[in-house]
Amino acid sequence: MKVLYCSNTGFSKRYAELIAKEIGGESVDISLKSRVSKKEEIVYVGWIFANKIKKLSKLKKYNVKCVLAVGMTPNKEKIISYLMEANKKELVGKKLFYALGGLDMSKQRGFNKMLLKMVSKSVIKQNNYEDRQMIDIFKNGGDFVSYENISELLEYLKN
Ligand SMILES: Cc1cc2nc3c(=O)[nH]c(=O)nc-3n(C[C@H](O)[C@H](O)[C@H](O)COP(=O)(O)O)c2cc1C
Repeated sequence: MKVLYCSNTGFSKRYAELIAKEIGGESVDISLKSRVSKKEEIVYVGWIFANKIKKLSKLKKYNVKCVLAVGMTPNKEKIISYLMEANKKELVGKKLFYALGGLDMSKQRGFNKMLLKMVSKSVIKQNNYEDRQMIDIFKNGGDFVSYENISELLEYLKN
């Protein structure tokens, strides 16, 4: 099984590589998706941009078994409900998983960097107690890629 991924700063790529290693498959960057047959089952790993799973809409004709969305929201339940709503059409018939990726401001450029800075300022200013982990990530960055974060997905793929 192939693991197709779209990654901006590397976290989703690392998750795709971890999954591919575990299932004895191959990870493939979405820019090379012509190497993936539309019939074979694939896992899709994509980073989250404003609650949307990047490039998932480009895979309508592909046989996507499940999707791993990678973001920087520590509250899994909250982000899953946002993702289900914002990606409703694209997720029909696909199982959704979420894994905390991280934030690396040094790799952000242009519009994305500007947007992140704006959101970061507003979240830090509001200073809500529930957002304390998010505030810490905005202030200090973070790398949360771990095997544990994809254990449920790996279990699902075994069955
Ligand atoms: C412009 C922008 C918008 C983002 N929006 C969200 C979001 O809505 N929810 C979230 O959890 N993470 C969001 N993120 C964070 C990324 O999804 C997170 O850093 C992810 O780990 C990036 O993965 P990558 O390294 O594979 O690109 C956003 C990042 C950027 C740059």
